[in-house]
Amino acid sequence: MANRIAQNLLTTQPSPTQSQQNRYARITGTGSFLPPQRVTNADLVTQLAATGVETSDDWIVERTGIRARHFSAQGVLTSELAVTAAQNALQAAGLQAGDIDLIIVATSTPDMVFPSTACIVQNKLGIAGCAAFDIQAVCTGFVYALSVANAMIQSGAANKALVIGAETFSRILDFKDRTTCVLFGDGAGAVVLEASATPGILATDLHADGKHVGILCVPGNVSGGAVDGAAFLHMDGQAVFKLAVGVLADTARTTLANAGKTEADIDWLIPHQANIRIMTSTAKKLKLDMDKVVVTVDQHGNTSAASIPLALDTAVRSGQVKKGQTLMLEAVGGGFTWGSALIQY
Ligand code: ACO
Repeated sequence: MANRIAQNLLTTQPSPTQSQQNRYARITGTGSFLPPQRVTNADLVTQLAATGVETSDDWIVERTGIRARHFSAQGVLTSELAVTAAQNALQAAGLQAGDIDLIIVATSTPDMVFPSTACIVQNKLGIAGCAAFDIQAVCTGFVYALSVANAMIQSGAANKALVIGAETFSRILDFKDRTTCVLFGDGAGAVVLEASATPGILATDLHADGKHVGILCVPGNVSGGAVDGAAFLHMDGQAVFKLAVGVLADTARTTLANAGKTEADIDWLIPHQANIRIMTSTAKKLKLDMDKVVVTVDQHGNTSAASIPLALDTAVRSGQVKKGQTLMLEAVGGGFTWGSALIQY
């Protein structure tokens, strides 16, 4: 028995060999997917007015920077968006699904209570056997997932990982609540992370403070064959705003320090796309001009865990982000969670 435990410890926690000390994780491909139904502020204003909910393009743009978002068609699940994003990332990396030995999906809108959306994605990609699991850190989910995949690759537990952020937030929006339903959208983004002898993920920094659970949550749960509690997103926008602007620059600075870099080394800030005012405030604190910030919130809205990989893929495919550049990813989300990752792309 003791031998078996010792053996298990050896297989899960190998002592670092020389080659593992020089083992890093690099992004070798990015992909994304937006459901085809694009809903502009004008579309939403009209749809909401029909049910007596009053809002305006001016209010939404001025307070958030959002001009449009995408909504999935009825019945389309998060895993379907995730699979297309993953296939696009695999193609960009020049890999087949069968090359992947780890799948992590960050999502707060899983297909089912269980099993994980990652297992569903694995099956839809036509592969089996590799580790697959979900991470739940709401809008910080992709940064958490990237950090975990990086650690697993560095330890030798994985070689080629798919890290996906995918959401169908439209399913948890109360379209009678104008303070939240104008903010969110659906979509998915993915990266392929591969073991490499040269650094890719330079440093990461993760945090949570569970005393703020109530300011951003979907408080319901499944019990006795029904939803017990509310199944719609609840948010105290001002409390979230205050916490967000308080922590984002700090986590970015911690990650820079961990990597031995400074603000001046950042080529692109790729923030969680929740609100342009939060992004502007963070950029200012990091002494970065807004032309160094990737902004997609205007076209995607807040897609929670999908927002960073969606923004990254958009910036890669548009030619903004180039090989070798230094990228700072940072996010806040329900939990309250926050974190950042510095990447040599
Ligand atoms: N259209 C028109 N008026 C509106 C709307 C709307 N859609 N929503 C609210 N209002 C009204 C309010 O009723 C209020 O009216 P009143 O002054 O007559 O009472 C007024 O606008 C101002 O409301 P506030 O809530 O004070 O507006 P604020 O400037 O704080 O902006 C917002 C709200 C955009 C939600 C902001 O607080 C914010 O961005 N917070 C952060 C949200 C965020 O980042 N969330 C994502 C976190 S990530 C995750 O984990 C999911």
